Amino acid sequence: MKVIRTTNHQEMSKIAANIILDRIKSSSHITLGLATGGTPIQTYAYLAEDYLENQTSYQHVVTFNLDEYIGLPKDDPNSYHYYMHQHLFSKVNIPRDQTFIPNGLTEDLAAECETYEQKIQQYNGIDLQLLGLGKNGHIGFNEPGTPFDQHTHIVSLTRSTIQANARFFGTVEEVPKQAITMGIGSIMESKEILLLVSGKEKNQALNKLLHGRIDEQFPASILNNHENVTIIADEDAI
Ligand code: PGA
Repeated sequence: MKVIRTTNHQEMSKIAANIILDRIKSSSHITLGLATGGTPIQTYAYLAEDYLENQTSYQHVVTFNLDEYIGLPKDDPNSYHYYMHQHLFSKVNIPRDQTFIPNGLTEDLAAECETYEQKIQQYNGIDLQLLGLGKNGHIGFNEPGTPFDQHTHIVSLTRSTIQANARFFGTVEEVPKQAITMGIGSIMESKEILLLVSGKEKNQALNKLLHGRIDEQFPASILNNHENVTIIADEDAI
């Protein structure tokens, strides 16, 4: 794994945005895997800024988000549909029918998982996957103990993740308890992975990822087996 150390969150985000823009500009078709959460917000802001200044086109870009909560309507401000619209999709010229996010409101969740995975395959897999890192080592919503070969599936969120995400909801009770997530198998099939890590609270997790052993109890550890991973971490995290 290649590690880029930055002085702060802004620099981490700028470097990430530049890598994403480079891949977008240098290909005629590209499929991006996208992440939500606090970590990539500034990266998306830089992409939006670039679009205003340079009109970098997203007409040839297809996106698949890692995950979505089960039970939240798309227009709920805490849904990842809302997040993506707010931070990126409304800011660039990406055709809306080229943006995919799991549907957490469907009656048939098992079918939704299968269809989502098939759609990723239809687009020849993910070229560049953006990831954040959970304090407990989760990637997407793949919590500790998730089998490394699993594809898109339903998960019950751990107490640690629910507590971490309560900051967006106001109270712990309001955080949905389940989500649909791309699996670790899906993530590992990406051709390139960009992992962003920021802040003191991620320091222990990053240390474990870089120096610990590969273990399903620490999902991100599997990234050590991927041949094209770049970690961009700010000074507080590393
Ligand atoms: P965060 O979440 O970016 O909000 O810290 C990262 C994650 O849980 O994957």
